[in-house]
Amino acid sequence: MTRHAIKTWLPVLAVAALFTGCNQQMAPPNEPLHLQHILSFHQLMAKQPKLKPQDPGHFFADGRSTRPFVEGTVARGSLGADPVFLTGKVSQLPPAVPATPVDPKLVLAQYAEEFPVEVNEALLKRGRERYNIYCNVCHGQTGSGDGTIVMRGFLKPPAFWEQSAGDKSHFSRGLRYQGAGQIELEKAPAGYLYHVITNGYGAMASYSAQIPPQDRWAIVAYIRALQKARATTITASAPAAGNDAHPKGAH
Ligand code: HEC
Repeated sequence: MTRHAIKTWLPVLAVAALFTGCNQQMAPPNEPLHLQHILSFHQLMAKQPKLKPQDPGHFFADGRSTRPFVEGTVARGSLGADPVFLTGKVSQLPPAVPATPVDPKLVLAQYAEEFPVEVNEALLKRGRERYNIYCNVCHGQTGSGDGTIVMRGFLKPPAFWEQSAGDKSHFSRGLRYQGAGQIELEKAPAGYLYHVITNGYGAMASYSAQIPPQDRWAIVAYIRALQKARATTITASAPAAGNDAHPKGAH
């Protein structure tokens, strides 16, 4: 085609492309591309010869379009080999037997007591930073459950530590629901706190998309620090007998 011919025909081709609607076939391999083939791209984009995941297909003998993993496939990314690090669980509950109460000890025993990561200053600092980004808005700066969103009317979460002698606002709701009985969140296994961040509980959503596993453990370590700090304050500030800083009658 000469330069002149291209100049003349190009606009015509462009306009023709707009009006094509027939179901042409793609050019077979090794054959030059003709106008018809170019026009058929338009049609193929509207109706793509692909299978969506889980669609049935006729190509493979088992009738499935989604192929099973090749034997020996090694998972990459966050799917690591350490289930405790990824789930916070060391075991699973045995299958429920109808009309038989769940053993509270087994419920608790599912969750890791120990941290699967080294707890050091760097982890706690990271945990404090992440806690203040993701959890503070509801659980509050110190873990009392009085974050800004709660003050605006959102369901108040349990406190992470005993707020005053005898109060019950720091008992785990999730563990009670699972059948473990009344467990203070100070005594809930670290793996359970991790489990709540990973899966959410009740009105609280899962944070697994926003917070990677290492950071979830960092947050759990920081919650432990908040709990210990408050427990110490309560004990340390309890007036010792015979040494009352505020004698009766003094205000
Ligand atoms: C949008 C508010 C909100 C945010 C943000 C939030 N939580 Fe919660 N959380 C709640 C509420 C509400 C509950 C109580 C849920 C219920 O009782 O239905 C709760 C419950 C919990 C519990 C106790 C579960 C139990 O067994 O009682 C833990 C532990 C917890 N959250 C940890 C966290 C951590 C850690 C973060 C940050 C990664 C976080 N939450 C972020 C609202 C929030």
